[in-house]
Amino acid sequence: MRSLFNSLAVLTGLLTSVAVAVHPVEVQGQDFIDTVTKKRFMIVGVDYQPGGQAGYKPQENSDPLTNKDVCLRDAITLQKLGANTIRVYNVDPTLNHDDCASIFNSAGIYMIIDVNGPQSGESINRAEPWTSYHKDYLRRIFGVVENFKNYPNTLAFFSANEVMNDMDTGKVNPQYIRAVQRDLKAYIKAHSKRTIPVGYSAADVREILQDTWAYMQCDNDGDGSESDIFGLNSYSWCGGDATFQTAGYNTLVDMFENSSIPVFFSEYGCNEVMPRVFDEVAALYGDKMTALSGGLVYEYSQEESNYGLATIDEDGSVKLRKDFDALQAQFNKLDMSKIQATKPDATSIKAPKCDKKLITNDAFDTNFTLPAVCPGCQTLIQNGIDKPINGKLVKVLATKSPNKVYASSGSEVKNLALTLLSNDGVNTPSGETTSPADSDNAIPTADGSAAGESDKPGAATSKLAGGWTLLAATVIAVLTVL
Ligand SMILES: *[C@@H]1O[C@H](CO)[C@@H](O)[C@H](O)[C@H]1NC(C)=O
Ligand SMILES: *[C@@H]1O[C@H](CO)[C@@H](O)[C@H](O)[C@H]1NC(C)=O
Repeated sequence: MRSLFNSLAVLTGLLTSVAVAVHPVEVQGQDFIDTVTKKRFMIVGVDYQPGGQAGYKPQENSDPLTNKDVCLRDAITLQKLGANTIRVYNVDPTLNHDDCASIFNSAGIYMIIDVNGPQSGESINRAEPWTSYHKDYLRRIFGVVENFKNYPNTLAFFSANEVMNDMDTGKVNPQYIRAVQRDLKAYIKAHSKRTIPVGYSAADVREILQDTWAYMQCDNDGDGSESDIFGLNSYSWCGGDATFQTAGYNTLVDMFENSSIPVFFSEYGCNEVMPRVFDEVAALYGDKMTALSGGLVYEYSQEESNYGLATIDEDGSVKLRKDFDALQAQFNKLDMSKIQATKPDATSIKAPKCDKKLITNDAFDTNFTLPAVCPGCQTLIQNGIDKPINGKLVKVLATKSPNKVYASSGSEVKNLALTLLSNDGVNTPSGETTSPADSDNAIPTADGSAAGESDKPGAATSKLAGGWTLLAATVIAVLTVL
């Protein structure tokens, strides 16, 4: 009897500690690759920073990934939308992000984390980069690595965002960004169990774009300072009349065709024509643009800049906007299995050696002698920072939305819940219409069934069935061992 109890205790312990986790994704040449399925990973993403910069409140112990109710509410709508990645701009490395990271992980959603913050000393100052590259700054960004390195759904870190935004800022900042990347990557190598890609998120300023990418991706005698990924904040496709040519996507393809690192839109979604129709989605994931690895729509929440997919009310309720409906419809049209097909040539591309000749514009930085590691920083890299706060996955228990969610028509979307992806899967477009145009929330489809806010039974059942098979197999395996 005693041993049966012990066995049961062990079994229960094992079962509760089994946390589902998305597969780590790694960079191979110009593609992201799922390390388990070996398929190509394409970013179908949304930028996520509710409250904008003001959503980062270290003095109140809060940032966009600290409130589990908020994360659950938004992970549910993002999952329905079809997103597989969020980008979060400002996090506090001293806070606990376990609940939020775990919720997004269970939803099959990866995170790209910017290591910087909006407050003084939390980023490189583009006017005088040498004044901001120091030990205290590195301690902060290494803290972000410590905080997020153990979450399997941490896809990448951004070392900087739009520091170079004109010819003037392109003169000397590039070498500082590479110095920061050198240190970040050395830190990850020394203190993380897996490699996590690091890269730069660039402004779409066409006069410096190619030089920025060329400077960041080249091999600088193997010093490890190169970008592993390249994000482009791209707003050139505006409205339903834009085309591949008028939006300049053809130029982007020419530029990045032979990139040795993944290139993707770290922001997109021009808002000059409202509501947005997101025709660029078909182009971005289409046959002509396979050199790019997808992108992230700017942005989840409606803020002053007027780019929101959803409006968050003070009472915590969310109203989906027409932009959400249009984007969901576009994502639903994507052929994910085609998009995830690998292209063998692309994964083996090697970076060119750094050389002045790679830079086309005279005024842009051609100095590849990087600033020396800042005073006291080498020790920090070797020994690690003091008292790091290391995140870890926790069990996700609640799945029902803690807040009301309204369709763009104004009616409430009922029975919203997170679908826990028990097969360690990545989220894919659901085929659903979360926010139907009419008010009763259940539009009959061609086959007579109701497509609405509820789960498509087929997909949900097969995921569940997979989960139970796994569970049964675990139980049998454990019992056999005991
Ligand atoms: C990319 O590589 C292919 C094959 O080597 C080459 O034909 C093409 O001209 C290259 N494109 C650019 C923009 O360098
Ligand atoms: C290149 O940058 C390094 C480090 O920032 C600096 O010491 C050196 O003087 C620069 N070289 C030139 C030619 O400007």
